[in-house]
Amino acid sequence: MYEEEKKLAAMEALKYVHSGMKIGLGTGSTTKYFLEGLGEMVESGKISDITGVPTSIRTEELARSHGINTVNNMEGIEIDFDGADEFDPAGNLVKGGGGALVREKIVAYNSRDVYIMADHSKFSQRLHNFPLPVEVLPFMEESTRRNIERIGCTSIFRDGKKFRSDNGNYIIDCKFEYTDPDLESRIKMIPGVVEVGIFRGIATRIFMGNGENCRIMDFKKS
Ligand code: A5P
Repeated sequence: MYEEEKKLAAMEALKYVHSGMKIGLGTGSTTKYFLEGLGEMVESGKISDITGVPTSIRTEELARSHGINTVNNMEGIEIDFDGADEFDPAGNLVKGGGGALVREKIVAYNSRDVYIMADHSKFSQRLHNFPLPVEVLPFMEESTRRNIERIGCTSIFRDGKKFRSDNGNYIIDCKFEYTDPDLESRIKMIPGVVEVGIFRGIATRIFMGNGENCRIMDFKKS
């Protein structure tokens, strides 16, 4: 859905990539458009010497297939380019629809800037549409799920536990009436929780494809 808007956002974000940069590479269908565009720029010689820090195994493979060099060293990442499942007017994000939230948050946290690319359907006044992904250890995971539910949500294991993240963990999708960004620390306090898909105060710029235009929103990293 909204493929043209995703492409538009990715193409706009690509304008900020220059030769010699070290960048974070997100995960998902919007990032895929970004990587395809980046690959074309590298292949045509328009830019060179790009180093990417991938947020998932599939992004790493995709980047390499486009001739982009990848490393897992977090030092000196200038801009992280990633997608989002939902975002609000303050730039808070819900991520993890692709199950890559742990590595996505580590790379975003260690980047000077975080540029998010998305279609307009991801924008909400309050985060409430997308079930919040929470990654948990595969140990007493049913208890961990019940402890998360006590905060006030209903939840299910992704694909009935068939889905495992790149880290070997389960993802629990949690349906809150409203995903208050303050929930991040409360959920993270629960033993067994590895990471929460709330990215608060991390995005510095959001590119939102909207019809035939791309709207750019700027935020301060807190
Ligand atoms: C991956 O775990 C997610 O955080 C993605 O960034 C998010 O799901 C956006 O994906 P799309 O670009 O496919 O919508």
